[in-house]
Amino acid sequence: MKPVKVGICGLGTVGGGTFNVLQRNAVEIARRAGRDIEVAQIAARHLNPACSLGATPVTDDVFEVVNNPEIDIVIELIGGYGVAREVVLQAIANGKHVVTANKALIAVHGNEIFAAASEKGVMVAFEASVAGGIPIIKAVREGLAANQIDWVAGIINGTGNFILTEMRDKGRTFDDVLAEAQALGYAEADPTFDVEGIDAAHKLTILASIAFGIPLQFDKAYTEGISKLTTADVRYAEAFGYRIKHLGIARRTADGVELRVHPTLIPADRLIANVNGVMNAVMVNGDAVGSTLYYGAGAGAEATASSIVADIIDVVRTLTTDPNNRVPHLAFQAHSLSDLPV
Ligand code: HSE
Repeated sequence: MKPVKVGICGLGTVGGGTFNVLQRNAVEIARRAGRDIEVAQIAARHLNPACSLGATPVTDDVFEVVNNPEIDIVIELIGGYGVAREVVLQAIANGKHVVTANKALIAVHGNEIFAAASEKGVMVAFEASVAGGIPIIKAVREGLAANQIDWVAGIINGTGNFILTEMRDKGRTFDDVLAEAQALGYAEADPTFDVEGIDAAHKLTILASIAFGIPLQFDKAYTEGISKLTTADVRYAEAFGYRIKHLGIARRTADGVELRVHPTLIPADRLIANVNGVMNAVMVNGDAVGSTLYYGAGAGAEATASSIVADIIDVVRTLTTDPNNRVPHLAFQAHSLSDLPV
């Protein structure tokens, strides 16, 4: 069988990690997907020194990838709402499947994107958009599909958790740790998204939509970040037996679904209080299963690539085995609980 051809748009930290995981684990990935997967073209403004691209064609025009008739799946790793939205919508219009890590795009334009994908009969997969390497979308959508979800709560911004951990453990200043998170490639292009809670609110919006079957409603989330916290706040919390963690919480209430992100005081002996550094953790409570907890790296090149490549494999498997059931497998189901306001 011919290889499935993918085009990678964006070769930054995550794009580079995705290319490298696809190359390094090609044999295992092909076995799992049932087909070879070939990177047919990459769009990048700068080459990534972490990647040996060999003969892989590179262009600086993302639309060359999107309009390349050879390419079956477009991997959108540009970030932001602008060009990324055009790339995804054009890819869908061209009948290509899309894998994206772009939480801002899905949270803000996801309703439009999923409608376009349904119309065209293509898949849009977005596991890497929430909690980096933790397969939380699949866990909630597939693993907990039997449950009525009561609430979801988690540490879903690695940069913010890294900052709070370093402030507590080493007494470092907020700005100093943020600069390191940027250098390590954890932070968003605009780091105010991390420290003002916007990135976490994007992710919470997506999680809530999956957990409660509601449309994406980012503008309804109460959003507060960590930028006003000082090392003294973090130390005082510790002295009283608490940790400050920035949480995203989505909860079913009598009036609808409540979405909020803000710093929270958590007793120091709780599991989630001991999630440190760039690690993320998401707790999900379902009526049948009770409380569950998912933990792992929330940012970073290969941790995020792990989720992206899993989505590519899912798309390829579905294409190969189940061509008539594409959209429901990876996009949202019908919003059958849309009577739950946010
Ligand atoms: N800036 C994000 C974070 C990257 O720190 O969690 C992963 O979504």
